[in-house]
Amino acid sequence: INIILLGPPGAGKGTQARRLVEERGMVQLSTGDMLRAARSSGTEMGRMVAGVMDRGELVTDEIVIGLIREQLASGGNGFIFDGFPRTLPQADALGALLAETGMTLDAVIEMQVDDEALVRRITGRFTCGNCGEVYHDETKPTQVPGTCDACGSTNLVRRADDNADSLKTRLLEYYKKTSPLIGYYYAKDKLAQVDGLAEMDEVSSQIAAALTA
Ligand code: AP5
Ligand code: ZN
Repeated sequence: INIILLGPPGAGKGTQARRLVEERGMVQLSTGDMLRAARSSGTEMGRMVAGVMDRGELVTDEIVIGLIREQLASGGNGFIFDGFPRTLPQADALGALLAETGMTLDAVIEMQVDDEALVRRITGRFTCGNCGEVYHDETKPTQVPGTCDACGSTNLVRRADDNADSLKTRLLEYYKKTSPLIGYYYAKDKLAQVDGLAEMDEVSSQIAAALTA
């Protein structure tokens, strides 16, 4: 099955996507991760998007659609679209790409949260620079301070766009450009909603229930 995780910054899309990868062997396609990888490997595209991302604005549809197209071309099934699509043109493009490759979109999971919780989530977040595991100062600290539980790396990093200013822009971008996708997928009868404010395990169960429904 192929699914979209839809929700504002900090809703827990990345956290739940990683769980689905572990539990179901699905493939996570995070345009945010792809863009950050392009930046850290210093490609021309990476340099081009750096400022836009740090300010919390969306990069162009053309760039992210190109990234997704490359990944889908390699075929396979069981994709989790994490942070994509984020605009109506991106949603149309995804529909067309899936149709071209004979794949279907099975569900769109909207992770509902409130803005106040998002600020706490984003400002407390850090990730492992080696394996990508996502942590939080309060809700998911590492067992040993400064060391990743999953891989033992001490390279724990915070994102440049995880500050109050950029978060404000990211939220505005979400409400203006991404939230119309809720109605778009509702109309296509694909939408399922989960309580993103619940504990991580509870969110996972609600997603599992939505996928068997
Ligand atoms: P992207 O990387 O996609 O970031 P985002 O959408 O802002 O989402 P986040 O990664 O911030 O949050 P998340 O929902 O994954 O939450 P997480 O699981 O980490 O995009 C970054 C930038 O790239 C964009 O601003 C844009 O510039 C560009 N971009 C990317 N895709 C694009 C596109 N398609 N089009 C245009 N531009 C694009 O959780 C957050 C924290 O909360 C963590 O610390 C976690 O441990 C904690 N947490 C998670 N779940 C729970 C829970 N249930 N209870 C308590 N704590 C929890
Ligand atoms: Zn790690």
